[in-house]
Amino acid sequence: MKVDISTKIAGVQLESCIFNTAGPADVTLDELEIIAKSKSSAITMKSCTLAPREGNPQPRYADLEFGSINSMGLPNLGYKAYVKFSKILAKKYKKPVIASISGLSLEDNVTIFKAFNDSPVDIIEFNPGSPNTIGKPIVGYDVEEMDRLLDAVSKICQKPWGVKLPPYFDLVHYDQIANVLKKYPINFITCINSIGNGLAIDPYKEKTLIKPKGGLGGIGGKYVKFAALANVRTFYELLGAKIQIIGVGGIYTGINAFEFILAGASAVQIGTAFLQKGPKIFETVQNELKEFMQDKGYKKLADFKGKLKVAS
Ligand code: DHB
Repeated sequence: MKVDISTKIAGVQLESCIFNTAGPADVTLDELEIIAKSKSSAITMKSCTLAPREGNPQPRYADLEFGSINSMGLPNLGYKAYVKFSKILAKKYKKPVIASISGLSLEDNVTIFKAFNDSPVDIIEFNPGSPNTIGKPIVGYDVEEMDRLLDAVSKICQKPWGVKLPPYFDLVHYDQIANVLKKYPINFITCINSIGNGLAIDPYKEKTLIKPKGGLGGIGGKYVKFAALANVRTFYELLGAKIQIIGVGGIYTGINAFEFILAGASAVQIGTAFLQKGPKIFETVQNELKEFMQDKGYKKLADFKGKLKVAS
């Protein structure tokens, strides 16, 4: 039986539903070419700002037993570099290219969106909420600020686009954000960004594992999978068919990917597992997902997408 794990995000065809998330390993052209040559079905580029940034002081990333902690601080080459990279990647590889925009102000975001309108990127992911920019709050937790930003960029953006969200934990907050999202022509949301401001400690050295913000950083990997699934599921129920969902958070295996799609995701991204296992993770997760679907008699994602049942 042939198993089809292709998907469409914002009308863009993807050969599989599995690709990289915007993160620490997609900053340089060399890193992006590693993703281009892997089985990742799209090439997501690092979240970019107006000007290039060095990011936060080192150490700023650490592997943990079941995931990772990071406070990179948006190290990136500036949006002009990613506009240029998108031209190179689109010409050289037959894969959708995704820009991730993290401007530090409304004006910066508008400038960057305009520049990507005139680029060959296929999709734009707006990421207003890095948890690690020192002195900046996580925007996704400020409903009014989200409304202001989405209003501005939705007037500018001429590409298929979506928004990457932080994890929510309270049902009232889901409702508030869903009501803002529904006001704008957003094609998808990506759930979740890392869980902000965790603290990882080395008990032997009696020190934090990373330096910025007194050791606080975004948690990713297996620790966050349950929060990620809850966000995918809850937004799937709140947003209906109008806005697609890309799931991310703790996906290491094909069965993990299956769980996200069952909860309502149309695609999944891989972050920490890509950093820890290298680019072969995309092929591994693809093959495992196909195998699991085959065992269950599913031929395509639509056979089970969103069809999660509640325990009885
Ligand atoms: C960074 C971290 C994030 O979780 C994010 O969404 C954007 C940027 C960073 O620290 O570089």
